[in-house]
Amino acid sequence: MRDKRRIIAGNWKMYKTAKEAVYLVQELEDKLEGMATSHLGAIEVIICPPFTALKSIYTVLWQDKPPIKLGAQDMFWEDEGAYTGEVSPVMLRDLECEFVIIGHSERRQYFCETDETVNKKVKVALKHGITPIMCCGESLKQREAGETEEFIQTQIIGGTEGLTERDMKNFIIAYEPIWAIGTGKTALPEDANDVIRHIRAVLASRFSTDVAGEIPILYGGSVNAGNIADFMAEPEINGALVGGASLEADSFANIIRNAR
Ligand code: PGA
Repeated sequence: MRDKRRIIAGNWKMYKTAKEAVYLVQELEDKLEGMATSHLGAIEVIICPPFTALKSIYTVLWQDKPPIKLGAQDMFWEDEGAYTGEVSPVMLRDLECEFVIIGHSERRQYFCETDETVNKKVKVALKHGITPIMCCGESLKQREAGETEEFIQTQIIGGTEGLTERDMKNFIIAYEPIWAIGTGKTALPEDANDVIRHIRAVLASRFSTDVAGEIPILYGGSVNAGNIADFMAEPEINGALVGGASLEADSFANIIRNAR
């Protein structure tokens, strides 16, 4: 097995006020500090709080310099302009956001995101040196109809339209079957591994075998401290995008510990 990058990213969704967020980060810092470096050393930890908490968290992280990186949950595809309610990549960069989740299934479902808007956002993130965590994943209906691979392929090709092999060096994909998100029902690790292998095959034909082999691909959907090790043991899976279980310092720290 190749020496793979290991990434645990927390997606806080629409939870935590700025004050609660700072408290959670400080608790998490304490727990990570107490963790042997052998546990943490090889794991990249990313948190993606709501926009309103980014500034306060940035201040804490900047002061304490813990091994936690900051990401956002979405952004718009223009640098600035008359786009009421939107947040630009320039604003995220200003707060040292190194990552941004793009095209989460909840954004696709509730906010009309399409592969086309995902692609626009991904391109602009890359232009500003922000690593996109581009999400893909099938619905239960698609899975039952045997359409998973075809659907995921469409999402990957649509989302990466116009990108170069070089762009893909600064890119993360999250495979999150919709039916496993927030339901407590995970994909079987070997099934997730199969879909992720398929994503790598799509990337190999679209870009190169180098890109396919090196790009970190995370699994997401009801990951917790009890199941993370099984996902990490699969050769194609680089880590996890964690929702519910990232909202509490103990459970997120245990996921990081067990991901080793
Ligand atoms: P979950 O969410 O861990 O609560 O299932 C994952 C996600 O939506 O990224």
